[in-house]
Amino acid sequence: MQAERLTPAIGALVSGINLCEPLTPAQCSELSALLVENHVLFFENQPLTPRQHRDLAANFGPLHVHPVYPHDPEVEEIIVLDTNVKNPPDSDTWHTDVPFIECPPMGSLLSARVIPPNGGDTLWSSCIAAYDALDAEYKVLIENLTAEHDLAAAFTDSRYGESAEAREQLATARKNNPPMIHPVVRTHPVSGKRGIYVNQSFTTRIIELAPDKSAEVLQFLTSHVARREFVVQWKWKPYDLAFWDNRLTQHFANADYLPHRRVMHRATILGDKPFR
Ligand code: SIN
Repeated sequence: MQAERLTPAIGALVSGINLCEPLTPAQCSELSALLVENHVLFFENQPLTPRQHRDLAANFGPLHVHPVYPHDPEVEEIIVLDTNVKNPPDSDTWHTDVPFIECPPMGSLLSARVIPPNGGDTLWSSCIAAYDALDAEYKVLIENLTAEHDLAAAFTDSRYGESAEAREQLATARKNNPPMIHPVVRTHPVSGKRGIYVNQSFTTRIIELAPDKSAEVLQFLTSHVARREFVVQWKWKPYDLAFWDNRLTQHFANADYLPHRRVMHRATILGDKPFR
């Protein structure tokens, strides 16, 4: 296996491994270490079936079943993100996956199935690099804060509640996933590095601050995370795979390809409870 770093802050292209075959324990350990070091790994030409995709992800932990997004008909752990004119893209805000549960995902594996002729790139940001770049004074200001993450902020009735059945599914998803509170700055459980853990899509407020100040700090931190020096951008080809460390990265999928169609499959690996 070889890894070529793509930007100073984040990202590596990994070659010399066939992810369609079962991984050895040594390969799993090597990939876990590369993930922690590079935050997002890219692999080319990995034509995984949904079952192979699920089995690959399951090497790294139990898998999450998403309460709203549709899944593969036979493999419920594989989300199918099929975006087109009738189902426009909605991943074009900076976010981390599923922060609204007590133990949010440690990682996600995204497989490109149908790629538009142009556009549709995804960007990832290192929340560790973004935190490191903050002024010492600002780090003190946010050190002990906590924030609320809400599924309902991103999965709205207007976007996801078109039919009575969809509204009922949303209501169940909200009931089962009430807003969750996590530290604004979390420590990576493996590297011990610290990073920003609030995002544009799901974070609704900072608990300890008055509404105006909460909105101001969230606005600052979420736009700071998106600065280009913390970001890697990937231009997809069919059967590329991205594996990101969801604990201290955020991602944003460009919604610039309609009227073309884009289909991605995602497996989401559960993680541990964020701590300061
Ligand atoms: C996601 O937000 O998990 C999907 C990103 C993408 O479609 O590129």
